[in-house]
Amino acid sequence: MPLATTHAAHLSRFPSAFAAAVHDGLTHSPQKELPSMYLYDEVGSALFEVITALPEYGVTRAEERVLSAHSADIVAELPRNVTVAELGSGSGRKTRRILEALSKKRPSGATEYCPIEISPAALQLCKRELGDIERVSIVGYERDYLAGLAEVSANRREGEVLLVLFLGSTIGNFSRLAATRFLKSIRGMLKPGDALLLGMDLLKPLDTLIAAYDDPIGVTAAFNLNLLARINRELDADIPLDAFQHLARFNPDARSIEMHLRATRPVTATIRAAKLTVEFRQGETIWTESSHKYSAEEVGPLASDAGFRCTRQWTDKEWGFAESLLVAG
Ligand code: AVI
Repeated sequence: MPLATTHAAHLSRFPSAFAAAVHDGLTHSPQKELPSMYLYDEVGSALFEVITALPEYGVTRAEERVLSAHSADIVAELPRNVTVAELGSGSGRKTRRILEALSKKRPSGATEYCPIEISPAALQLCKRELGDIERVSIVGYERDYLAGLAEVSANRREGEVLLVLFLGSTIGNFSRLAATRFLKSIRGMLKPGDALLLGMDLLKPLDTLIAAYDDPIGVTAAFNLNLLARINRELDADIPLDAFQHLARFNPDARSIEMHLRATRPVTATIRAAKLTVEFRQGETIWTESSHKYSAEEVGPLASDAGFRCTRQWTDKEWGFAESLLVAG
């Protein structure tokens, strides 16, 4: 995964963590890179919503199919007294199924749902989307995933079991090593018997994968290029957007689709807030995201490396997607 964090020492030199990350990423040699988390400003988040509706991008619809078909089965694996924490609240469409099933199972008393998001706008949206579900109370946490989860876990009511939702194959945006570390960190905040519902996109034929990340009407290209536009908007930069092209390619060693931005001619750009003048050779790329793809069989070993047991798995055969229930051992 491209650099995900910036060193605290940089923060004093730069006006924001974004500026520091852009400085680090664009001076990274030999491969320039930018952290994928910065794809999601207001414009990027709106473009991602459009991606989820594209015929070529089957990930979101596949997960919706799994959750509409199996929410009751998933909830049947859990006790009645469940508090739900969701890492990244998303649009709320998929979570509704789970919350409705949990609420049905607990006819007296309320199920607490705690979406964890760094964006206050996303939390508001999620409260609007899911606020009408009977016997579900929503308590949003405006935090990063792990800080938020630590608080939800510590604040849970006596006797409540925690169900953590990490949906949408966001785990795929971590390298395999970082994914194991992240799951270990989650496990460290849970008690035995707590559970994690993990959505993962599965390996599939190359042409299907490439089309999902390089759609013919260019929405994914716009999503990727918006990162450069964001740098221009927020960091007083002059990157010529017309000199960069979206590129999606499969990395067979990492089993991931990588998104890059490729310079179609030599470019010199100044990014004032990042204190940087940067040169690109013709054909040089900036690596902006990796989406790792898994086989359903990989989940068991990944879970046990992180201190979980994969107790059940539900898959969508039409696209190739797995929802796995990992229980903290
Ligand atoms: C959010 N994440 C799981 C998406 C993915 O499939 O890796 C982001 C995305 N990038 C391009 N298209 C979708």
